[in-house]
Amino acid sequence: MSSENFQSLSEALPTSAVGKTLFHFETVDSTNQWLRDRSEALPHGSVAIADFQSAGRGRLGRQWVTPPGAALLHSILLKPNWPLIQASWLTMIAGIVVVDAIKTLYDFDVKLKWPNDVVALQDQALHKIGGILVETTVNQARLAEAVIGIGLNVNISAGDLPTTQGLPASSLLLLTGQQHPRTAVAYETLSRIERAFEHSAKGNSPLEAWRDKLITLGEKVTVVSQIDRAEREGRAIDVDEWGRLIIEDQQGRRQAVAAGDVSLRF
Ligand code: BTN
Repeated sequence: MSSENFQSLSEALPTSAVGKTLFHFETVDSTNQWLRDRSEALPHGSVAIADFQSAGRGRLGRQWVTPPGAALLHSILLKPNWPLIQASWLTMIAGIVVVDAIKTLYDFDVKLKWPNDVVALQDQALHKIGGILVETTVNQARLAEAVIGIGLNVNISAGDLPTTQGLPASSLLLLTGQQHPRTAVAYETLSRIERAFEHSAKGNSPLEAWRDKLITLGEKVTVVSQIDRAEREGRAIDVDEWGRLIIEDQQGRRQAVAAGDVSLRF
């Protein structure tokens, strides 16, 4: 895919559901919210893409703001009907897919900072180039609906980079020195999401593949828990089947952190 025509993208996708119903907006409040508001009426695999979001959301209740037309802002509606225990699989799948999509297209290393910050090395420092927000709806103890929202800084120049919590931001433009069609990136993410989703729908856990992409493991970290705002220091030693980060402190005590902010202390 080489143009910015998102309807052609939909036609070109080698998928059976993901992206076959696709909405492209110049401006929308949030692509996640737009799909959530219409989730009952829309089919599994529907996609919303926007050039600009007036109320883009990040993790932990943060805003997600990017300049018009320069970021790939896309969300995918899935109707898994999986047991609740597999909710974390969607976060894992999303992270794996984004990393693999970028690696296929570009020649730089990209990783995940737990849980799902998309990061790359620039001038010997980690920079955030994208983020993932998964929002789920539960019905009768099953995972009825999920919206996977992915924001990637594609053609954002240095002066327009968003301010991010923790890491400095960067973009594909700054990492590669050239502009890229957002459709090319979306083609990779959307086709991979369908394959990964169907693989996991057969009961295959994405944990191993996700773990391999986490730059956080083995590092000293400070974690601010989203649940009790407590700060914990230690070494990130693993992630578990629920996607929690396992921290070990100096006394060898282990704790599992379900959601929060992690700073790496290199
Ligand atoms: C993060 O905090 O790192 C997650 C950011 C997720 C942003 C994307 S952009 C497309 C989708 N729509 C939203 O409102 N948020 C997600």
